[in-house]
Amino acid sequence: MPETLAAYPPLGPHWQGLVVLARGANRLCVRDPADEAACLKFELAAHERTQASLRERLRRAWAQRWESFGENAVELRAYRRLHARWGEQTHEVFAQCTGLVETRWGRALRCLLVREADGQPARSLYSHLFAGTAYSAGALCAEVDRIEAWLLARQVPLFDLNAGNFVVTDVDGHPRLTCVDGKSTLSGKELLPLSRWIPHLMRRKIQRRAERLRQRIRRALAEPSPAH
Ligand SMILES: Nc1ncnc2c1ncn2[C@@H]1O[C@H](COP(=O)(O)OP(=O)(O)OP(=O)(O)O)[C@@H](O)[C@H]1O
Ligand SMILES: [Mg+2]
Repeated sequence: MPETLAAYPPLGPHWQGLVVLARGANRLCVRDPADEAACLKFELAAHERTQASLRERLRRAWAQRWESFGENAVELRAYRRLHARWGEQTHEVFAQCTGLVETRWGRALRCLLVREADGQPARSLYSHLFAGTAYSAGALCAEVDRIEAWLLARQVPLFDLNAGNFVVTDVDGHPRLTCVDGKSTLSGKELLPLSRWIPHLMRRKIQRRAERLRQRIRRALAEPSPAH
């Protein structure tokens, strides 16, 4: 998700009568009216999406023709691959996706809604950074450390470590991050995805992206970097 929401076309708290939780660059996430523990992700129509690079526009054009290139199909494939390899450990970092479903509003990806103990949907890390948070930069960065270590130990190429792809829940007064968008473990921006094939490039890229996210957290919450 870009750092500014201004690029998004206007959208109210409801969409076709459904409760909107959030919108990303490509999708809309709503509460599942049939299951309070789930959410549904709908791919936005072309005119509702944010502006994009030529490469991204081409990918979107492909996805309109071949559903398997769409965000929902890619996220489900990515989740299933992780789960096949890592089983329950997957949920130490990633939210669970349950499958593609046909609804009266169109086809959607159903995922487990990450919620706080009181049942409220978890807010994104982006919202914590820019709309207020009870947590310190240090506590949020410690969670980025945990996720980075998890990815490195298993060589999982989650490269899109942006604040809109994580939600925050409270565990005994400490923040816990959960990744709600694992697409980037499968698809990325490189034409030749060397950083997926070569382990030390993968390591370095995960480390760079994690450090960038920590810097964003510190900048947004205006706390100095720890001395090295
Ligand atoms: N499983 C979930 N539980 C709680 N909230 C979620 C969940 N999945 C998505 N969200 C909310 O929806 C927002 C957008 O989700 P997601 O990243 O999947 O969409 P996207 O279109 O892929 O975004 P982008 O392309 O900008 O990365 C998240 O920031 C989060 O607030
Ligand atoms: Mg996303």
